[in-house]
Amino acid sequence: MFRSGRYANRMGFDQYHEPASELSQETRTRARLIASLTEEAEAIGWYDQRISVEKDSEARAIMANAQQEEFKHFGMDLEFLLRRMPKWQEELKLILFQPGDIVKHGEQAEDAVD
Ligand SMILES: [Fe+2]
Repeated sequence: MFRSGRYANRMGFDQYHEPASELSQETRTRARLIASLTEEAEAIGWYDQRISVEKDSEARAIMANAQQEEFKHFGMDLEFLLRRMPKWQEELKLILFQPGDIVKHGEQAEDAVD
């Protein structure tokens, strides 16, 4: 996970949109993991851009290796959240890893979960 640049400015308590003292421990934990998920996705995107413009193959290989770590972090964050938010998990089961039209799967998932 990155701890610099724009991301560093968001560190602290701003993952909460409600007073933290009014939130349950479980909600605060989910908020932290949702913030982490967002940060991992950002890191993946940053590496994607850096790799695409880097001319040095060794530097590209290092960044690609680092990006691979971010894939893992994103996946672990997402899995944690889905295990604790069953409706989200239920909807994503109908969208992720399904061949065919993504939008159609999304609409079907929305209908099925409603
Ligand atoms: Fe990470």
